[in-house]
Amino acid sequence: MILGVLQQKGGVGKTTIALNLAGSFAKDGYRVLLVDADPQGSALTWSSVRERKPLFPVIGMPKPTLHKELPAIAKDYDITIIDGAPQVSELARSAILACDQILIPVQPSPFDVWSCASIVGLITEAQQFRPDIKAAFVINRKIANTAIARDALKAFADFPFPLLVTTLTQRVGMAESAAQGLTIVETAPSSPAAHEIYDLAELLSSATKESRTA
Ligand SMILES: Nc1ncnc2c1ncn2[C@@H]1O[C@H](COP(=O)(O)OP(=O)(O)OP(=O)(O)O)[C@@H](O)[C@H]1O
Ligand SMILES: [Mg+2]
Repeated sequence: MILGVLQQKGGVGKTTIALNLAGSFAKDGYRVLLVDADPQGSALTWSSVRERKPLFPVIGMPKPTLHKELPAIAKDYDITIIDGAPQVSELARSAILACDQILIPVQPSPFDVWSCASIVGLITEAQQFRPDIKAAFVINRKIANTAIARDALKAFADFPFPLLVTTLTQRVGMAESAAQGLTIVETAPSSPAAHEIYDLAELLSSATKESRTA
């Protein structure tokens, strides 16, 4: 499976989610590859500050030819995760075409939901050539013990992709572990933050199994 964590809007948690999902899948014994498709190179920087043995390899491929080059590399892994770049449509188009499944992180405010129009448009375009590409939204940086604003939830209804039931909460530990080149599944494996990541990983891997058996 090639899973893209993609969103044109910057700072929504693409890199944080990509790294932590990769950590969770690696811990479960999957052969995981993380592809940094962002010219900012945040995932590569993360792996360079890491002092421990790598949990999974990270390669940099911020190229508009990603969809052509990645399948040959990804075949040696169970799960390849693409950490996408913000803004650049040319890179986003290629990253989308490389994916079986796309996770679109969104912060729980109507402004953030509206800003998804750009990535949704690009994915819908790509589905004309590759109707098998699946996409879903995941809420990231939810404030603990608060409900998601009804206006934000309503705004999702205008888009053709589902909102996953699993949400990710704003957690200091997520930022702190990343600063050390680690993932939450290593620094706090029993924490609520890690459990949210396990739940998301489980949901994504079961969706893949279902689509294979369908
Ligand atoms: N669930 C979370 N809890 C706490 N902090 C978070 C969470 N998700 C993301 N962050 C923080 O938000 C900031 C932006 O996250 P991140 O870099 O992962 O976003 P991005 O979408 O990859 O950004 P860019 O578009 O620049 O690549 C970072 O400082 C990160 O530590
Ligand atoms: Mg990033």
